[in-house]
Amino acid sequence: MRSLDVFASEKLAALEQRQLRRSSVVTKRQGIYCTRNGRRLLSFSCNDYLNLSQHPVIVDAAVEAAKRYGVGAGASRLVTGNHPLYADLESRLARLKGSEAACVFGSGYLANTGIIPALSGPDDLILVDELSHACINAGAKLSGASVHHYRHCDVEHAETLLAAHRANHPRALLVTDGVFSMDGDLAPLHELSRLAQHSDAWLLVDDAHGLGVIGGGHGSSFANGKPVDVPLQMGTLSKAIGGYGGYLCATQPVIDLMRTRARTFIYSTGLPPPVIAAAIAAIDVIESDPAYAAEPLRKARHFARATNLPEPQSAIVPVILGETNAALAASQLLEEQGFLVVAIRPPTVPQGTARLRFAFTAQHPDTEIERLSAIVRSHVLRQ
Ligand SMILES: Cc1ncc(COP(=O)(O)O)c(C=O)c1O
Repeated sequence: MRSLDVFASEKLAALEQRQLRRSSVVTKRQGIYCTRNGRRLLSFSCNDYLNLSQHPVIVDAAVEAAKRYGVGAGASRLVTGNHPLYADLESRLARLKGSEAACVFGSGYLANTGIIPALSGPDDLILVDELSHACINAGAKLSGASVHHYRHCDVEHAETLLAAHRANHPRALLVTDGVFSMDGDLAPLHELSRLAQHSDAWLLVDDAHGLGVIGGGHGSSFANGKPVDVPLQMGTLSKAIGGYGGYLCATQPVIDLMRTRARTFIYSTGLPPPVIAAAIAAIDVIESDPAYAAEPLRKARHFARATNLPEPQSAIVPVILGETNAALAASQLLEEQGFLVVAIRPPTVPQGTARLRFAFTAQHPDTEIERLSAIVRSHVLRQ
């Protein structure tokens, strides 16, 4: 066997032994249901919080754009991939987030790995919440800056780290998820914003799971009515928006800097026109129907109440089970009852915190949520 194959095989065998080998199961999605291994399952593992990925008006917008403009961008946005639809999408995103300007990237992952190194370099300081998404950490690493993690949502710890390190660096970036993707809790944005302003640090919030769901659909910095001052509002078009792509909303100079310095913007092909058209149509739905945007959180709270779990702050409800095999067994048990709730295990979450992660969407029927809750109570939590 060639050394390359030996390397891959041994690595896989070691992961398999720790139940950490991943495999992607073929899954056909139809509305809120999925078909996997020949079984039809009600999915609680999709981030399509508003079920917009299959909304007929949005699908029509994508089909129409595909027919008019084709299915690919043809090049990077700085070459010929800057389709006229982008201007509309970016101004709609800026309006939704209350910012001066916006810039769309190929995905949320590409956004963070482009934005962070465009703003920070080896001389700089980056503070990151320890439970932030992998792509924030990837962006921080790529920047070459000094990176410190503060304890989850612990503003005092962030303050201590800033007090210790801020003076040694010309610039500082403070980065957090707005809604934590595996825990569903909200970052203390008011406090982080105050701390950032006090320390001349720039606050970057990744609101992948807040847009379309929290604060009337505007996102987690709008959770309590008056928006928090977040100069760098990043997010994705792949969750509540239902499609694909990432974005940054910020002032015009910051957005202009992204267009000329963010490597994942410059050196990656633009989004396909149907994806841009779909995102615009999705924003129409969110802006026109804030009551609909409130539904995923209402459903999550209904489930939590019925299951005796703490009140959720977002559409994501974790049930932490500890060891990987416990989470896999619980997921299997729910699958046998017709529910898809994928087990989340390390390294996506810290060791010893493998879990079921329930993601609620606007169209989950209350009766099915109640059936799910009864099974979780009696068979997973054994209440
Ligand atoms: C918090 C967070 N940020 C970024 C991403 C990446 O976004 P995308 O899937 O658009 O690359 C995700 C999704 O996986 C996420 O949960």
